[in-house]
Amino acid sequence: MNDDSPSPRTDSPYPRQLALQGAAIFAVLGVAWPYCLFRQQPLPWLETSLLIGSLAFLFACLTRQFWWWRIIHALFAPAAVLLSGLNIDPGWYLAAFALTFLVYRGALTSRVPLYLSSRETTQALAGLLAGESAGKIVDLGAGAGGLACALARALKDVHISCVENSYLPWAIGFLRAARLPNCHWRLGSLWDVSLAEYGVAYAFLSPAPMSRLWLKVKSEMRPGALFISNSFPVPEVEASAEIEVGDARKTRLYCYRL
Ligand SMILES: C[S@@+](CC[C@H](N)C(=O)[O-])C[C@H]1O[C@@H](n2cnc3c(N)ncnc32)[C@H](O)[C@@H]1O
Repeated sequence: MNDDSPSPRTDSPYPRQLALQGAAIFAVLGVAWPYCLFRQQPLPWLETSLLIGSLAFLFACLTRQFWWWRIIHALFAPAAVLLSGLNIDPGWYLAAFALTFLVYRGALTSRVPLYLSSRETTQALAGLLAGESAGKIVDLGAGAGGLACALARALKDVHISCVENSYLPWAIGFLRAARLPNCHWRLGSLWDVSLAEYGVAYAFLSPAPMSRLWLKVKSEMRPGALFISNSFPVPEVEASAEIEVGDARKTRLYCYRL
């Protein structure tokens, strides 16, 4: 997407967001700090942080960031100042960061957070795959294994491989699948898994990786194999079939026959 595009940007957001917040911090502190030094008065942190938040919000609007980034930019500096006034032990911040990283590593690396397929989706998939004679199935980004383990129990004659790159969901899935001989767990990136041996690949990710994933699917899966994406269609590719699951989330399964 080029810089003149009228729609919000979708490429990797993190360096840009850091730059926007950093620019607002430098701009405000660059004026406020010398001014306070000159007047020999302490920097009013709350007012300064509100100014930083306003400027960062303005920068985010001018550069057409998604709405949630605009809110994050507006709130980040004031929230940091308010929280620092609570005198919370820094260890708690470290612990919160570690827990978030253990559960949501996928959101950082692939912009795919952890959320789980519904029970109705599992049932619909079990029905679909029972008629597939798929042999081997892979769940790309398997979360904590709820879906994969349920499928492994329902479809005893298929082998299900799971790959997950967030440590805590992987560990939970690994323990859950330990007594299922037809369910294999792997800690790692879905991009490192060869899809050549699988009759069915299932993914419940986000819009961000779908185009790249489709290129991988097309180049690695054999003709006749099936790629199923929960909720997120492959952009500009017509699905061979779409299945309404009928759950509260209005889940739709997009099926692509190679
Ligand atoms: C929306 S959850 C889906 C979980 C499960 N497949 C289900 O349907 O219930 C997506 C999972 O993909 C994982 N993930 C994201 N990027 C990944 C990557 N590059 N390699 C492996 N797993 C990834 C996330 O950590 C998350 O647990």
